[in-house]
Amino acid sequence: MKYFIITGATGDLAITKLYPALAETFAYNQYIPDIQFLGAGRKSLSQEEYHQLVQSSLAKTNIKSDFVSKLEYIQIDFTKIETIQKFFSQYNIQAGDEIIWYMAIPPQAFDSVIDILAQVKSIYQDIKYKLVFEKPFGSDLSSAQALNHKLLQHFQETEIYRVDHYLGKETIQNILALRFGNSMFEPLLNNHYVESIAIDVWEERGIDKRADYFDKTGIIKDILQNHILQTLALITMEAPVAMEAEYIRDEKHKLIKSLRPIQNQDIILGQYIASGDKVGYLQEEGVDPNSKTETYVQLIAYIDNPRWEGIPIYISTGKRLSETKAEIRINFKPRFKYFSHIDENCNPQKNELVISIQPYEEVYYTVNAKFPGKGMCIQPVKLNFTYEESFGQKSQTAYTRLIQDIIESDQSLFIRADEIEAAWNYVNTLIQDTNLQNRKLVKYEAGSKAKEIVDKYT
Ligand code: BG6
Repeated sequence: MKYFIITGATGDLAITKLYPALAETFAYNQYIPDIQFLGAGRKSLSQEEYHQLVQSSLAKTNIKSDFVSKLEYIQIDFTKIETIQKFFSQYNIQAGDEIIWYMAIPPQAFDSVIDILAQVKSIYQDIKYKLVFEKPFGSDLSSAQALNHKLLQHFQETEIYRVDHYLGKETIQNILALRFGNSMFEPLLNNHYVESIAIDVWEERGIDKRADYFDKTGIIKDILQNHILQTLALITMEAPVAMEAEYIRDEKHKLIKSLRPIQNQDIILGQYIASGDKVGYLQEEGVDPNSKTETYVQLIAYIDNPRWEGIPIYISTGKRLSETKAEIRINFKPRFKYFSHIDENCNPQKNELVISIQPYEEVYYTVNAKFPGKGMCIQPVKLNFTYEESFGQKSQTAYTRLIQDIIESDQSLFIRADEIEAAWNYVNTLIQDTNLQNRKLVKYEAGSKAKEIVDKYT
């Protein structure tokens, strides 16, 4: 028998992401082997109360599924091993059974939970375990190393799934297909043809009700260290030996390690202030009024390897910006100088390959084409592909894909220990406590355009 246990069953992540993803999986009849789904938490809840909670989390989606009736609630306190033993005997867990522990709990709790799970494993040795950890895994390099060290003393890397939900997004996975399944892009992706790359992850939303988490975290740890570095690695890494988890992770790890250490002059940190009906970051409920936590970061990254030597990668990400958008733009070196003098009204542009992750799931390429009629006027046109038009459907949610992969033991979309440490190493100097108080934060008005922050406020 297999058990899929959502630890933190009444928490924000379970309610906003995991239950809708599970319901979607059931609703679309995707392959779910015989699994008992359970929600675990410290609270005492009746099955009915728990079902109501899960129902309310689905109410905001259009998903119709009978999955709620398949869920059961169990009371487990990870500080008390007896509560786990009780669950084992109540469900008659036996040798050969599999337990997936999905840790939808605050990251500060990971350390003590690993201790307890290590004890559980030493008592119940013949069970197959899978441990799933949400990001952030660690809060800096040394804490991530310590967590990995502890985990790997008791569990194999093949039993550990470190989540970065960006990897579950179709458009992110499509980077591999686009690069390595076509002959027309890959030969151009290097410093002979590319002039620069930009990766933007912008959000209109603020920190919602997550001050407790965000004020200790900041956008560097929340988005840059994980979502952006993973995206960057996929778009710039070398071809993996095969499209299999270990090979893909080898290449991502190698790439992240070859990032040049960040120079002070290449980075700008910001924090939003009130504007219109939006409160400033320091006035958000639960935020320390003297907080130096950054809500915006902009930097230029460089990869020190022969393929990318000298090519700037412009990264920007932040909260309370003018729009919500995540995209990768690859700018190619211009080739049109023999055309541009012909007619000054023509406006040829550099070729650009854009992978839009959200809100539109789209890939497009801008090329210069001849404007109809006399003369030789060239202008940019767009060659594009959208998921909806091409495949007639919207993509499933990232979590739906990740949950399926965990069930099927496919680790390709999960982060390996060495990758996560390399990513922390890259941002480590920026997040050291000793550097925090001396931070210079650009104060930008809520709703600002990311591209204008530097010019307008510095
Ligand atoms: C999460 C961050 O990992 O990603 C959030 O903690 C952020 O702060 C979110 O809003 C963005 O993900 P998505 O999928 O909603 O774009």
